[in-house]
Amino acid sequence: MQKWTTTNIPDQSGKVAIITGANSGLGYETTLALAAKNAKVIMACRNPQKAQAAFDKIKAKVPNAKLVLMQLDLGSLASVRKFAEEVHAKYTSIDLLINNAGIMVPPYGKTEDGFETQFGVNHLGHFALTAQLLDLLFAAKNSRIVNVSSQAHTMGKINFDDLQSEKSYHKWAAYGQSKIANLYFTYELQRKLTAAGKSTLAVAAHPGYAATNLQGGSGLFTFLNGIMAQSAAMGALPSLYAATNPEVRGADYIGPHALGGWRGYPVKVKSNALSYDESIAVRLWDVSEKLTGIQSPI
Ligand SMILES: NC(=O)c1ccc[n+]([C@@H]2O[C@H](COP(=O)([O-])OP(=O)(O)OC[C@H]3O[C@@H](n4cnc5c(N)ncnc54)[C@H](OP(=O)(O)O)[C@@H]3O)[C@@H](O)[C@H]2O)c1
Repeated sequence: MQKWTTTNIPDQSGKVAIITGANSGLGYETTLALAAKNAKVIMACRNPQKAQAAFDKIKAKVPNAKLVLMQLDLGSLASVRKFAEEVHAKYTSIDLLINNAGIMVPPYGKTEDGFETQFGVNHLGHFALTAQLLDLLFAAKNSRIVNVSSQAHTMGKINFDDLQSEKSYHKWAAYGQSKIANLYFTYELQRKLTAAGKSTLAVAAHPGYAATNLQGGSGLFTFLNGIMAQSAAMGALPSLYAATNPEVRGADYIGPHALGGWRGYPVKVKSNALSYDESIAVRLWDVSEKLTGIQSPI
């Protein structure tokens, strides 16, 4: 097998990328790699201090990196709207949108708009963001949207009777729901892009298991990180492959090749059978539009 690494990333000169959660873990490594290949990267981060620290770190490694800091809290539809407005004010087209930010298994909580935090941040925030940036993505030829999912999608199903886990909250079930939602969103978006005759691709990726701040640095995760995690740089390769490899097609899913998908170099993989169910994807799309109040242009 040929190993796909950052050296395979084609030159990205002239391209503008937006990466959510760009200050940490996979988002940081994705930003670093794309900036090193001359892309302009808009680092969409919720915490300006952490964003500045990541910006400085990347600049020290890649002095000519073209980085732009912009504030985005995916747990607030108002913040998503403000971010999208700012992007529209500054740019006429966007080549890459990498929906990477995420949270995993927090105690029960709600976003500003009353959504269960994981479903709200990991799925609905990115749904609203993407829908509000689609016109700019259509303005760039062969633009791409990459949604970062997880092996944990196999634990997930969309619980339409209790989407916000108000009747009962199981943190892993809610994480799984948010991560299979990333896949339904990707596959339905690609069907809509194809039907509308757009050159924009919607692609999903997952990192396997990579040691990042996602695991919170305690207990079982510290143990697992020690024995089976790969680096954040390795974990970012599937996102980078999905974003830049010319062999990628719409609705592809990219993940590590080895150990049942937990580690290794990126290849095309398949998500589980449930994630390809079109009727669930359509229903989730409709519910997502209603909940966010954002009508997608396609
Ligand atoms: N690491 C893994 O093994 C693994 C496995 C499967 C899937 N994933 C997925 O990979 C993605 C990246 O995770 P990671 O491992 O790189 O974790 P990470 O190091 O914790 O990074 C997550 C990023 O998301 C940001 N974020 C969280 N809530 C946000 C919000 N409300 N608005 C905007 N940004 C927000 C974080 O910002 P702060 O720094 O301010 O918190 C951080 O920049 C996630 O979608 C995760 O589900 C990771």
